[in-house]
Amino acid sequence: MLEVHDLTTSYGAVRALSEVSFAAPSGQVTAVLGANGAGKTTLLRTISGLVRPRSGRVLLDDRDLTRTPTEQMAALGLSHVPEGRGVITELTVEENLRLGGLGAGRFRPADLDRVFALFPVLADRRRATAHVLSGGERQMLVIGRALMADPRVLLLDEPSLGLAPRVVAQIFALLRGLVTAEGLTVVLVEQNARSALSIADHGVVLNLGRLVVRAKASVLAADEQLRHAYLGF
Ligand SMILES: Nc1ncnc2c1ncn2[C@@H]1O[C@H](COP(=O)(O)OP(=O)(O)O)[C@@H](O)[C@H]1O
Ligand SMILES: [Mg+2]
Repeated sequence: MLEVHDLTTSYGAVRALSEVSFAAPSGQVTAVLGANGAGKTTLLRTISGLVRPRSGRVLLDDRDLTRTPTEQMAALGLSHVPEGRGVITELTVEENLRLGGLGAGRFRPADLDRVFALFPVLADRRRATAHVLSGGERQMLVIGRALMADPRVLLLDEPSLGLAPRVVAQIFALLRGLVTAEGLTVVLVEQNARSALSIADHGVVLNLGRLVVRAKASVLAADEQLRHAYLGF
């Protein structure tokens, strides 16, 4: 289980997160929702050690990760897929995936086989340079790259942004399948609250850096007032 306790993060004088606490249970999808500027990206960046919190703690299965350097996170079981789908466009699909393994200090052919089995389109294009990929394929590549470290916890930042609904549905169904089949723990940051809640077990809503509510996904999706106030649907 991934837990954050009283997490407060600032950029200089700008406070982006204020005393946020919640748990993301193992083997489940926790959606982190909220408008642009709510603090979602900062939350993921703080969990994965890219920014240091002013105060508070991050625990993974009771181990304190709060001061762990970000480059050690993958080896400890935590992989972060940042927003923006950044890949090295001059390298091939397979080379990009191999970098994901290296980032965790390991490369295992079995991990590559697993990613190719999950994303057959990447297997078909393994020797193509990444710049030929569509947006959806790039999203699959960055998720695949994170999976090369065989994480227990996968943090995803806005994977649906700019993708066609059909592609979003495909990627979300795949994530759900991974969680169900392998017990992966997913923290899914999304502005696309409706889609995220459709595959999530739980949801957390942030507003102006504060946690508004944590509840079962079905409860959030049914709460009309909350949807209108914070979720945009
Ligand atoms: N590098 C930064 N420097 C200063 N302020 C930032 C930086 N990144 C984000 N912020 C501010 O922190 C707040 C939360 O941003 P962010 O975590 O990106 O929210 P979200 O991902 O929910 O859109 C916003 O007010 C944003 O302007
Ligand atoms: Mg963001």
